[in-house]
Amino acid sequence: MESYRIEGGAPLSGAVRVDGAKNAALPACIASLLTDERVVLHRVPQLRDVSTILYTLGALGGRVVRHADHVSISACGSLSEEADAYSVRQMRASFLVLGPLVARLGQAVVPLPGGCAIGRRPIDLHLDGLKALGARVAEKEGAVVVTAERLRGARIELSYPSVGATEQILMAASLAKGETVIENGAVEPEVEDLARLLRKMGAEIEVVDRTYRVAGASRLRGAEHELIPDRMEAGTLLLAGAVTGGSVTVAGCRSDHLAPLLGLLESSGAGLTIDGEMVTVRGPVRPLPVDVVTAPHPGFPTDLHPPLAAYLSLAAGASSLVEAVFEGRFAYTDALCAMGARITRTGAALTIGGVESLNGRAVAATDIRGGAAMVLAGLAADGYTTVTQLEHIERGYARLEEKLVSLGARIERDDE
Ligand code: UD1
Repeated sequence: MESYRIEGGAPLSGAVRVDGAKNAALPACIASLLTDERVVLHRVPQLRDVSTILYTLGALGGRVVRHADHVSISACGSLSEEADAYSVRQMRASFLVLGPLVARLGQAVVPLPGGCAIGRRPIDLHLDGLKALGARVAEKEGAVVVTAERLRGARIELSYPSVGATEQILMAASLAKGETVIENGAVEPEVEDLARLLRKMGAEIEVVDRTYRVAGASRLRGAEHELIPDRMEAGTLLLAGAVTGGSVTVAGCRSDHLAPLLGLLESSGAGLTIDGEMVTVRGPVRPLPVDVVTAPHPGFPTDLHPPLAAYLSLAAGASSLVEAVFEGRFAYTDALCAMGARITRTGAALTIGGVESLNGRAVAATDIRGGAAMVLAGLAADGYTTVTQLEHIERGYARLEEKLVSLGARIERDDE
């Protein structure tokens, strides 16, 4: 069992560089299925989720070569239309292979992620989008079977700006006949990064506000693309600096992508300096309480909710944090409460009554961002914290402990 042993109380200081964005890497890898030419992606983070998607693409017949920080994928030989069940069940993002496969091969068979039923959350918007493009959708033995001789452009209004559904439809529409308009699409930086890659591959995509216009092409070409920096990793590292009352510079990031977090850090009394691709935070003695509601971009990102909760646990007063994107994102709160945080929940709303100090405990990571919250709480807590189930954290953070140690954190990794 792998675990971190964290000795809390050391203010972090120094500079650290962020990796490319996980949530940009996953759809970008999948977009390589849209062409028989080579797609080369740079700044690809070394993460379990990336390995999972590359495995899925390899199992479909793609030729994948992975280097230190770039990946080359050629979907040029004969491709299978049936995605590997194990990897789709491991990671919901694998479901995005559906659109590219049906667009390229005319048929795709992809297991239902996490066993959810067709027509209900969380894939209804994906399937309705593909149906609007003329695909026939059926369910067979726990898998979605989608067929279409040639997808046709359509006007699709999403009832919610789902990141995954927008990416699914963008990829499928890029090989459809005619124009597709997606209204109320997601405009997260990672979705826009996918649109940039698709443009390099030959798709014509325009976006104004939340409306995408895609002129489908009969074939797409290979491309080379550098992924955007990971705003969730950057945000987590800034919060680590702030929660320990330290001074941390995150290099290689996009401050415009981090705007909702930076605004909040400032309201909480942290000092901020932005210098090109570098953001420096200076943590306050104790954060001031703030009120936050998560929302689709450009709102406060749901993925930073748990690390933010760890920070606000030490505020001088009560904060309110409403999770308005994923109703089930609260598993981590028990661990923070065991460490002394005062968090109460009413529906999707948390009240985080700030405490003066947290105490080290043995806790188990519940998910990627919940695990990061526990690490942050451990860095600020009195005494030792052990965090187990690192496999969750490692799905989304590459070498997190190494980066934190380079900033002066006292973390030992136990691989037993
Ligand atoms: C992506 C990100 C994830 C982030 C989330 C929201 C990746 C790999 N993951 O996830 O880290 O937290 O965006 O920014 O990029 N929904 C439906 N029907 C659908 C699809 C979604 O009801 O067909 C609902 C979901 O249940 C959820 C909300 O929409 O409540 C947001 O989901 P979505 O934006 O699709 O997130 P993901 O693409 O899964």
